Amino acid sequence: MSFKGSLFMGPERVIFGCGVVSDTGAYVEQLGGNKAFLVAGKTTSGLAEFKAIENSLKEKNIDYYLYTESDVNPTDNQIDNGCRIYKEEKCDVIIGVGGGSNLDTAKSIGIIATNPGSIRDNFAPNYVTNLYDTPNKNAIPPMIMIPTTAGTGSEVGAWAVVTNTDENYKGFCGGWMCLPKIALLDPEMTVSMPSKLTAATGYDALIHALEAYYHRYKMPQTDMFALSAIKRIFKYLGRAVANGSDMEAREQMLLGAMEAGYAMNTGCALIHSSSLQLTSKFGLSHGETLAIMAGPVMRYNTMACVDRMIDVAEAMGENTRGLGKLDAAYLAADIMQKFAASVGLLTSLNKVDHDPGMIPAMAKIARVNDNTYGNPRTPTQEDLEELYRQAYYDL
Ligand SMILES: [Fe+2]
Repeated sequence: MSFKGSLFMGPERVIFGCGVVSDTGAYVEQLGGNKAFLVAGKTTSGLAEFKAIENSLKEKNIDYYLYTESDVNPTDNQIDNGCRIYKEEKCDVIIGVGGGSNLDTAKSIGIIATNPGSIRDNFAPNYVTNLYDTPNKNAIPPMIMIPTTAGTGSEVGAWAVVTNTDENYKGFCGGWMCLPKIALLDPEMTVSMPSKLTAATGYDALIHALEAYYHRYKMPQTDMFALSAIKRIFKYLGRAVANGSDMEAREQMLLGAMEAGYAMNTGCALIHSSSLQLTSKFGLSHGETLAIMAGPVMRYNTMACVDRMIDVAEAMGENTRGLGKLDAAYLAADIMQKFAASVGLLTSLNKVDHDPGMIPAMAKIARVNDNTYGNPRTPTQEDLEELYRQAYYDL
């Protein structure tokens, strides 16, 4: 069934500040948990900061099972296997610690912990599967999210990305009953991120905010978070990349990624849908592929949202006084590309080994991706092929 009106949602509680993860055990206790299923990446689980989470659980005598088998792109098999262990171990609370992939793994395990079947039964190619607009799904177990990157916004979101290994595609699923009970945002958890990852994840957050701001389904609540995120990330990402122990920059980036996560209640748009295939085809990170598509797609979109592009240019520090509206609006694409290059990200595929013969097939797939329907301008097959040519040749 489809409901009327725009939906804006987030976790029940967001707790922000250095050291907040040392209260994880107390929050599990508040949620009535006896045994936690702790999902984290192998690297993350070896960090000193991670020990604070484990120690807080031990202090409260809360038993836990540490699951570290999730991938950069979480697969159906990893999630089904995680759920099997969750049930065998009789866990009753889930804690996700990491970047988007670990947080998405935690959510996906939650979906099948309380609902029958495999995670494969819950998502499809190209479309975002909203599981909870139907009456037959159960809410996931109580969940705590602890991000270790400042990018994905998954800690405040209701959605997860999963890979179907049988048919080799990524799908989105979730809905309001997948929202975490608590998001613990601790800037100290992001300090060990290397500079390249800081740049790529921070740029991802910036594009979440941008695409929310000119999205077809934008709303006042998302506008507010989106513009604030653009300003904050533009101001602090370079500092966080240049000096990972700059705590003010780390704090502000974690806030910016959270704001962008709230803004993403709209969904994403064409920069995301056109970039998704570049990650698997060229082995680039999500943030890098966004940086490659941002310039061409923003120029393409400008005619459909001139005033919004001027707001974006101004939020990124451009002085638009005295300029004509179109000149001011096109500055947004220029500065977004320059900004990506300034933090060390590629802005075209011309340095990557590629085959332009793939363009028509890539355009066909991007055109029917769900995120494309949120774009302020509807691309044709020819439009998309031209955007990929621009990304390939840096036109
Ligand atoms: Fe993204």
